[in-house]
Amino acid sequence: MCGIVAYTGPQDCAPILVEGLRRLEYRGYDSAGLAVHTGRGVEIVRAVGKLTNLDQALRKTPLAGTTGIGHTRWATHGRPSEANAHPHVAGAVAVVHNGIIENHVDLRRELQGKGVRFSSDTDTEIFAHLIHAEMQSGIKELDVAVRRALARVRGAYAIAVVHGEQPGTVVVAKQDSPLVLGLGEGEMFAASDIPALLAHTRDVILLADGDMAKITTAGAAITRIADGAPVSRDKKRIDWSPTQAEKGGYKHFMLKEIHEQPRAIEDTLRGRIDLDKADVVGAEIGLTEEIAKATGRVYFVACGTSAHAAMAGRYWVEQLARLPSTVEIGSEVRYRDPVFLPTDLVVAVSQSGETADTLAAVKAAKAQGARVLAVANVLDSAIPRAVDGALYTHAGPEIGVASTKCFTTQLAALLLLAVYLGRRRGTLNEAEARRILDAAWQAPAKMRDVLARADDIRTIARRHMRAKDMLFLGRGTGFPIALEGALKLKEISYIHAEGYAAGEMKHGPIALIDEEMPVVVICPKDAHYEKTFSNMQEAKAREGQIIAVATEGDDEVRRLCADRVDRGSIPPPSGRGSMLVAADVIEIPPVENEVVPLLSVIPLQLLSYHMADLKGTDVDQPRNLAKTVTVE
Ligand code: M6R
Repeated sequence: MCGIVAYTGPQDCAPILVEGLRRLEYRGYDSAGLAVHTGRGVEIVRAVGKLTNLDQALRKTPLAGTTGIGHTRWATHGRPSEANAHPHVAGAVAVVHNGIIENHVDLRRELQGKGVRFSSDTDTEIFAHLIHAEMQSGIKELDVAVRRALARVRGAYAIAVVHGEQPGTVVVAKQDSPLVLGLGEGEMFAASDIPALLAHTRDVILLADGDMAKITTAGAAITRIADGAPVSRDKKRIDWSPTQAEKGGYKHFMLKEIHEQPRAIEDTLRGRIDLDKADVVGAEIGLTEEIAKATGRVYFVACGTSAHAAMAGRYWVEQLARLPSTVEIGSEVRYRDPVFLPTDLVVAVSQSGETADTLAAVKAAKAQGARVLAVANVLDSAIPRAVDGALYTHAGPEIGVASTKCFTTQLAALLLLAVYLGRRRGTLNEAEARRILDAAWQAPAKMRDVLARADDIRTIARRHMRAKDMLFLGRGTGFPIALEGALKLKEISYIHAEGYAAGEMKHGPIALIDEEMPVVVICPKDAHYEKTFSNMQEAKAREGQIIAVATEGDDEVRRLCADRVDRGSIPPPSGRGSMLVAADVIEIPPVENEVVPLLSVIPLQLLSYHMADLKGTDVDQPRNLAKTVTVE
């Protein structure tokens, strides 16, 4: 996730671009840069680190001009460095990009074969060379060259392009990454998100996938990328305050990030699944065939939410790759005398890539000769730097302290890892792999269905917000989801909550259940349905207040939970919503077993969020917690 801005008009553009980038810094901040048409052609200034570094660089090398583009980067391909910072240049062409190009390896190879020399490790530079090659071949119009170049590219992008010989013109295009046009008086803007525009205009056009636009001071000519046909898009007036705009109109970053999950999963899977071959692309996930075959055990280390993702990863590795697997908490590994083997694949899961306890465990594993793979969200952070390979989640920066989109992207990444190991080791046949990968690829659409029920979940949250304690139960991969649901609730609402394996309830926690105790049961129609259903009946028999996460149309679960709502003081919601939640049942669409956790955690994230919000706690920055824990 990166931020792009563009301007053309009568004003000096560098300050406008930098201010726009400042409003987009939440999208990434490891480097930034501008390209401005200065009258001498397009000139660029870039700097590593936060925007203040770009400010300083611009003070040394001012860029004067009235048309330009800017970028703030969250690295995905190529470490954060000045060479990898955008804009990328080829001849007179300069490009900024947000997204991921899936066929970048093939295109880079092809261009290198034609003598092109790359000056960065990014996938973005490919755009610059492709557009430049089109212009060199005699194409005169920048938008035509961009359209022809885009026809070669597969993946997600929002791009803005300027050309040294075409002053006063910016060409933008989008596919699966956001891009908004801002309409001024005799000036035009474009940006990844609305906050970058609000200081200048409240009239915007949200471009659709497959749109491109040529913007000049006269306005925007919007066409389809595919065939150049003109399209018309409605203008919208934005009434949000700047703070609301930064959160995309949501009340909190956490809620925004919960809703970003489908996009984050798509970005994490993109380019890594080969559905034709029913396989995962090893080079994209930091592993090789040799390592997969030589692995005798998978040893996960992680903390907090990342440890819950690792637990789901263990189930998948055991089931799909038939490898012994274990999950250890970073802070425990470092103070034990752990035994690592040279045939261990240690998988360190950490969204920040900086967690001190996980890093210490990684060092212990390395010291004993184990091979270590990092699953991290922050490129080039301490853990990926310390290990042999990295599998990056592409969630983009997560601002809310309570992890949500980083968790689900970790799940997606670990499912890919398990499929890759299973395919290499011959324990997962082609048909099974295709079934799972196909289900993973379809999961974001189903997640959007669950998110559409968010308002109904607030009604349930209101009924239980005064609870002092809550239990979360699940089986199989539902167990780590139960742990994650309990952790989310504790973190942001300060309600005491415990997650348990559903089968463990009878060994103690059942003593806690009475009519005061809400019990959240993750009971989708998966391989463990009947057993989990029995556990729910047991809790119900002790008068527990059941909140069930169940598969759509499961009348058994609905009947079991129904009478509690009838007794509640708050009436069930009306209309479509009442069908969904009238019995404290939150439904998820039917999906293959392996992707159930991607869906079943969303109701728990939303339940925690709404309980916390109704109680009025500081959702994004809960007391006593830090986003990155670099101390013991
Ligand atoms: O950056 P990491 O994934 O290594 O962080 C691990 C935990 O500190 C983190 O998951 C923590 O539990 C979060 N606050 C969960 O919401």
